[in-house]
Amino acid sequence: MNTDVYQLKDLASRDGLDAFHDKPAILAVIGCPVAHSASPAMHQPALDACGIDGRYIKLEVPVGRVMEALQHLNELGFVGANVTVPHKFAALDACHKVDEAARQIGAVNTIRFVEGEIHGWNTDGPGFARAIEEEFASRLPGMRVMIVGAGGGAGQAIATQCAIDGAQRVILVNRTLEKIRSLATVLERRFSSTQFHCIGLDDPQLCGVARQCQLLINTSSVGLRPDDSSPVNASCFSPHHWVYDTIYKPPLTQFLRDAVKQGATVANGFSMLLHQGVLAYDIWYPGRAPLDIMRAGLRSVS
Ligand code: ATR
Repeated sequence: MNTDVYQLKDLASRDGLDAFHDKPAILAVIGCPVAHSASPAMHQPALDACGIDGRYIKLEVPVGRVMEALQHLNELGFVGANVTVPHKFAALDACHKVDEAARQIGAVNTIRFVEGEIHGWNTDGPGFARAIEEEFASRLPGMRVMIVGAGGGAGQAIATQCAIDGAQRVILVNRTLEKIRSLATVLERRFSSTQFHCIGLDDPQLCGVARQCQLLINTSSVGLRPDDSSPVNASCFSPHHWVYDTIYKPPLTQFLRDAVKQGATVANGFSMLLHQGVLAYDIWYPGRAPLDIMRAGLRSVS
């Protein structure tokens, strides 16, 4: 696997970009930082398995220069790109066209260059829906969901996907209430068949509200460090709960450990990462994503 991180200056010419490589760069993940990205481990084996002559590279792009990066990739004849933190919102503005999920979520994580234009998709939300189906053999329509740490980008994407799919109730939980209140206002206006409620992370009623939900999700960054505590009290979990943490490294956060102790069924963010990648690959190469190869590639680095 190619572990190099490319910079904007490396896009100056195709010759420079592909020097010392036997395959041309055709796909990239754009982020800042991007060195840690697991996407190449999933997409390069997929390209190889499909017999596609190309490299999937990591491209570090400073904040404010996403449009420039995408225009360069377009001019160089790239097939497409993935966009990761912190560029998913800016990428939306760089697109000539975006799909419905990207428009609703307000962020783009997948780009395909189509006849000189930049087209954007969001596969994070749909990837999450697939992950829930795979992990818990259950689907979002009609579900009662609690999203902990809904103030960040992941929480916003998942809350919107739950509404798109017709969840019955979405409880937004956050340390900073203002952030989720504005999100709830926007979602309430757009999706009349889903009920939205906001509750503070330190609200004494949180566990009572959690008990009325079926699916609890952590989308906060609490748990990324191995010694992090859980964002919620362990007594919030019950055996009837499906509990999903969008974090996949470490594989078992304190949030999930507490849930397991209370008898809940748990899963981590590996499946969401995999399925957003599979859906992105299917946008670049319709119907050709090799699921098992991508799963094994991702497994090798996480
Ligand atoms: P983004 O995804 O936009 O980069 P982030 O800073 O990583 O955002 O934060 C994602 C979520 O984790 C937010 O909901 C954040 O809560 P606030 O909106 O109150 O900042 C939550 N979060 C981060 N650190 C937290 C902590 N120590 N305790 C509780 N929630 C936290």
